[in-house]
Amino acid sequence: MDSREIEADLTEVLVTEQQIRDKLAELARRIEADYEGRDLLLVGVLKGAVMVMADLARELKPHVNMDWMAVSSYGAGTTSSGVVKILKDLDSDLSGRDVLIVEDIIDSGLTLSWLTANLASRGAASIEICALLRKPDAAKVEIDVKYLGFDIPNQFVVGYGLDFAERYRNLRDVAILAPHVYS
Ligand code: PRP
Repeated sequence: MDSREIEADLTEVLVTEQQIRDKLAELARRIEADYEGRDLLLVGVLKGAVMVMADLARELKPHVNMDWMAVSSYGAGTTSSGVVKILKDLDSDLSGRDVLIVEDIIDSGLTLSWLTANLASRGAASIEICALLRKPDAAKVEIDVKYLGFDIPNQFVVGYGLDFAERYRNLRDVAILAPHVYS
């Protein structure tokens, strides 16, 4: 789906498909250098991370393993305890593994805060985070993100995996959703 074709639904394109591609290439070069000679396990968090996982993994030159988790959010758009439920767990044993969590967005940070603690308790050798987007103004907890694509304003964004009511995930760019769509 192209932004041009749903112009009326969007206020502004924040990050274009090309900018995403360039940024993932840049991050991939850093990841390759940092993990040289080690086996890397990419952990994607469904569903939003599907696009960034697919593009980042293909951009990486060495072999990588890929695994997935699905977690329930703590309540759509609401603040809360940050307690997360596992809907689908990893297939992999994390003992001694170098794990890179791949996320589309860090909003409040509650999901990743919970997830990193959960994965750390499983005996991984290392756990780092790669996130395409971060909303610094929405942070409720500090997240130590090693590989970050873009800081964006605290607006309702869709595209490249990010949805509103399960729509817009297949939009190629990341864009601000026009208020008339959700209000
Ligand atoms: C989104 C995103 C992160 C999380 C970030 O997932 O993919 O997992 O929210 O928000 P936080 O920093 O405030 O915890 P969502 O729960 O919308 O599910 P989805 O990926 O299936 O769309």
